[in-house]
Amino acid sequence: MIRTAIIGYGRNGSTMHAGPVERYKDDFQVVAVCDIDPEAQEKAAARFHCPIYEDYHKMLAEVKPEFTIIVTRSYQHAQMAIDSLMAGSHVLVTKPWATNARDAERMIAAQQVTGRKLLPWLPARFGADLRQLRAIIDRGDIGRVFEVRRSATTFGLRRDWQTERRFGGGYLLNWGPHLVDQPLQLVSSPVTRVYGNLRQIINPNDGEDNLRVICHTEDGVTVVSEYLIAAGPYPAWVIQGDRGTIIVQGDTIHVYQANLPEKVGEKEYRSNTAITEYTEKITGQIYGDEYEIYPHIARALRGEEEYFVPLEEALRLSRLLDAARLSSRLGQEVCL
Ligand SMILES: NC(=O)c1ccc[n+]([C@@H]2O[C@H](COP(=O)([O-])OP(=O)(O)OC[C@H]3O[C@@H](n4cnc5c(N)ncnc54)[C@H](O)[C@@H]3O)[C@@H](O)[C@H]2O)c1
Repeated sequence: MIRTAIIGYGRNGSTMHAGPVERYKDDFQVVAVCDIDPEAQEKAAARFHCPIYEDYHKMLAEVKPEFTIIVTRSYQHAQMAIDSLMAGSHVLVTKPWATNARDAERMIAAQQVTGRKLLPWLPARFGADLRQLRAIIDRGDIGRVFEVRRSATTFGLRRDWQTERRFGGGYLLNWGPHLVDQPLQLVSSPVTRVYGNLRQIINPNDGEDNLRVICHTEDGVTVVSEYLIAAGPYPAWVIQGDRGTIIVQGDTIHVYQANLPEKVGEKEYRSNTAITEYTEKITGQIYGDEYEIYPHIARALRGEEEYFVPLEEALRLSRLLDAARLSSRLGQEVCL
């Protein structure tokens, strides 16, 4: 059993992380929970019957957890991760693991000094849609992919700290680790240029609530990621290949395949191309299932397998999000 502590027992910490560590009793034992909110402390005490702390430094010093899960507000993650690593604990940090690449580098430096494991949380890499889309592309069903578009739309307003930049809020950090990272898993060459357009449309405070990030890869693929706060339902994915298109609407993947003619006559206005369609239902959670990910975390902590997010990939994502913010400020594309 891995002696586990949780820092931040709020909306997400008490569900997405406390749930699996509670269920997988052979792997994890919750030895402490830390939160500054008395109500959260009470709930954690009633559930885990373990020591409860208000000060995470004290908790790290007294309990010496083997593994610490950090689920506090986004601007707190990097320093808490560094302090936990320095206290000798392995660390899982929820997304965004850092609010900028400089802090991500500081975390990696602490990981290297201590030799403890540092696990960035990018659960959408376990998304059921992503897995199925990858299989369709790998089968060659739409040919060579040259454009991927990933969209999330809503009219859902927020009023909490996620709307304030000083707390690491704003939707680039909140949604970028899902919507920017996920489609990049479908392309193989590195991103060389980034364009970002971050705007605040209907939320209060100073964090952007509407974003579009356009990445261009070395081998000519364009990847568009967008979170549109004032929009009705768009397709969640549109993937264009030179032999077909994939469109994901709701829980259905539509695959349109073009049967291109062998050759087109010189005077022909355009080819008469037959399009055929097949569909697939999405068979799981699109932002990843924590109950599937945590057994993998236990194996990674025991050194039985490599964790699914290499640190250099998480750092690359932080650099990319920084570049998107810079691009939005400058109003022009940024080269990486
Ligand atoms: N799918 C996902 O991976 C996913 C989903 C939701 C949220 N998140 C991430 O989880 C993090 C928390 O989001 P949330 O919605 O749960 O926020 P929240 O405000 O509900 O929870 C944060 C908790 O941290 C506590 N806290 C604040 N300062 C503290 C300190 N110094 N020491 C200990 N505890 C402290 C707060 O009291 C609160 O209970 C965010 O970074 C968010 O991006 C990830």
